[in-house]
Formats: sequence, structure tokens, C-alpha cells
Amino acid sequence: MRLVLLLLVLLLPWRPAIPQDLTGHGGPVRALAALGPFVVSGGFDHAVIVWNPANGRAIRVSRWHQAAVGALVALPDGRFASGGEDGRIALWLPGRDEDPARVLEGHEAPVVALATDGARLASASWDGTVRLWSLADGTAQVLRGHQGNANGVAFGPGGALFSAGQDGTIREWAADGTPKTVAEFGLPLNVLVALPDGTLAAAGADGAVRLLAADGTQREFVTGPRPAIALAASPDGATLAAGTVGGGVGLWDVASGRQRARLDGPGLPVWSLAFAPDGRTLWSGGQDRRVRRWDSATARALGPLAPEAQDDLPAGADPQGAVVWRACQACHALRADAPQMAGPHLQNLFGRRMGSLPGYRYSARLAQGDIVWTPETVADLFTRGPDVVVPGTTMPVQTVGNAEEMAALIRFLERATR
Ligand code: HEC
Repeated sequence: MRLVLLLLVLLLPWRPAIPQDLTGHGGPVRALAALGPFVVSGGFDHAVIVWNPANGRAIRVSRWHQAAVGALVALPDGRFASGGEDGRIALWLPGRDEDPARVLEGHEAPVVALATDGARLASASWDGTVRLWSLADGTAQVLRGHQGNANGVAFGPGGALFSAGQDGTIREWAADGTPKTVAEFGLPLNVLVALPDGTLAAAGADGAVRLLAADGTQREFVTGPRPAIALAASPDGATLAAGTVGGGVGLWDVASGRQRARLDGPGLPVWSLAFAPDGRTLWSGGQDRRVRRWDSATARALGPLAPEAQDDLPAGADPQGAVVWRACQACHALRADAPQMAGPHLQNLFGRRMGSLPGYRYSARLAQGDIVWTPETVADLFTRGPDVVVPGTTMPVQTVGNAEEMAALIRFLERATR
């Protein structure tokens, strides 16, 4: 018995790390970008969420796009841009505002990739064009040349603009908008990134990552038979990560061309990948609606993200309900005196009129205040879904799986919000 205990104690540090995740999206996570110490994600649920990974909480939620969010890119000074299947691009300032600082309109089909050189923003769209926008005044140059969808866009180190498309080509765009084909691979390309040394990496239908060095030499990293849909480079360009439809994520050492590891585990397949500024942490956004964090050096999922959020649960709260509540705690505090979060605090929820907390900036729909929150109305909200009950709300689609879980959540809220 003692031996068993000793063994247990010895083995404890080698337990597989609990895969940590940022939970809040109501659909697969389609786009990701590192934003200084924060990470921003965009989903099929139309939501853009800015997260503080240090405590696992959402800082800001916006459901301004009218369709899935297909692309995100960090801009200087904490700003970022999002592109949607609604064909629109939004520029966001740091802060909590729900509305973008500027809207760039013109694309006639989904925007699927964004890149910046600091002064300009480039976008690729399924309308077949690449657009080059001035971040100063929002004017655009429309670049035509691809046959079919433009899928990827990237700036080289000197500010040269490249794009990749369904037509299998990588094009370089001259200042006057003339395209030059710099590579032709004969099969659709889905994603494009530029490394700091000017190497371009593109991946597509056959899952291979093709590297095109500035001097024209080509190399190939094979991920497997399935199409690649996500590609990211570490800030120093030393590591590439690629994810395929239905498969794991491969990590390559760019200099040697050696596949260093494969990420396998929960949350795959992924739709999006991004490296944190430290170059070691890799974010993945997946089919399972979560943003997960990996150590790209060891290929392990990193430890739990938000333990503190569970600490302030009131004594006697329904344990099963507390588990269901985990889907909510990234955005809601239970007490009024907690620091402000992306959603309104829920203290004294029952009996409270919808949209009535002073100082919280609600969407126009919730501000109408035509519902009083009771166990019945809250249960209805998460049975039919906020998008059905209060269309136009900024809360991402959240539904609770079954009647038993719903009853547990309500029991939990009755106690914990008093
Ligand atoms: C990703 C962030 C996020 C998650 C996750 C989330 N919410 Fe929300 N919630 C919001 C936001 C933002 C609002 C305000 C919506 C608006 O103004 O349209 C909101 C509003 C609400 C309201 C209305 C409050 C009021 O003052 O009228 C309730 C009730 C609520 N949420 C409960 C929940 C519950 C229960 C869960 C988990 C099942 C949950 N939320 C998950 C972000 C979130």
C-alpha cells in the first residue's frame, strides 16, 4: 500500500497536462491572431472574442459581423482587423467598444485572409480579388489576376505583396497592380505566410507545405494526404505549424526541414493557428469551439488556464451546475464587485430586467429590456439559444445540452447569483 502511494506521488508530476482552453465560442474557431499578451479569435458563430490568456477570460466580445469570421490580423498599437464571410473588414481599437473604428467595404464574397505591413492592410477574397487598403484613410487598390478564389495574402520583409489562390499560383503584385506569377503549383492553395527572411510558405489541397525562398529555391514539407487549412510561422521564422482537414497539426524546424512533432489530442481538427509573441506558445482554434494552447517545443498541451475562476464559487453551489457554468465563466462574473468582464455580472439575476445593469454597454436588443430573468426565461434563453430568443445580441450562441444539465445550471445560478 505504502509502495503504491509512493509510486503515485512520484508519478504525479508526469501526469499528462490538462489541455487548457478558452471556452466561449458557439461554433468552430475559424481565425486567430496574437495581440501582444492577448489573443483574438473569430468563429463560425460570427463572434470576435479578445481573450486574456493569463486568466482564461474574455475581455471583449463582438458580434458585429453578419456571418462567420474568416480572418484576423494584429495591427500596430493593439489594434486589429477582422474579415468576414459577409465580405466586410472591420478595424478595431483596443478597448471594450462593440463597434469597429472603421469598416472597409468592397469585397463581394467572403474575406478569408488578411495581412499587414503596418501602414497597409491586404485582404484576399473568394470574389477573386486581392485588395490593398490604406490604414490611414481606408482607400483601396483592387488587384485582379487570380482565376477563382484568392485564399492567402502576405507581405514580404521589404513590403512586397504576395497572394495565393485556388488557381495554384503565388503572385507578386507590383505597385501599379500588375501581377507576376512567382510560382505555379497546379493545385489549389489555401494558405500563405511570409517568413522574416523572405521565404514564402504556402499549403493547400494535397496537404504539402511548399517553401519558396527569396532566391527561388523550393522545398516541400509533407503533412499527409488531406488538404491543409491552417498555417502559421513563429515570429523568428524558425518553426512552421500546419493543420489539415481532419488531421493533426505538424510542426517543422524550417532550417533543417525536419518535422519536429505532431500535435495530437483533443480539439483537432483545427481551423486556425497562431504563435504567441514568445514564439513558443502555439494557439489552435478548432472544430470543438475552443482555443487551445500548446507548447510548440514539446508539442504538449499546456496546463489548466482558469483555475481561479472556480475558486470564488459560493459554498453549497450545485456541483453539476458548476460544471455547466464553466461554459459561461469566461465572460460573466457572479458578483457585482468582481472586475468587469466581457459580459454583464449576474449578481441578483433572477428578478432582474434584461439589459438593466447601469454602466454595462448592452446591445440594442438587450437594452430593450422586454424580458425579466427568471429560471424559466433563462432556461428558455439557453434552450432555444440567444440567437433565437434575442436576435442581435452580442452573446455568442450558447446552448445547454439537455434538460438535466439545464436544471443543474439553474440550481447553480439560483444559489450563486443571490
Ligand atoms: C463569450 C462570452 C459569453 C459567454 C461564454 C456567455 N455569455 Fe452571457 N452574455 C455575454 C454578453 C456579451 C452579454 C450581453 C449581451 C448583449 O448586450 O447583447 C451576455 C448576456 C447574458 C445575460 C443577460 C444579462 C442581462 O443583464 O440582461 C445572461 C442571463 C447571460 N448572458 C447568461 C449566460 C450564461 C448562463 C452563460 C453560459 C451558459 C453565458 N451567458 C455565456 C457574453 C457571454
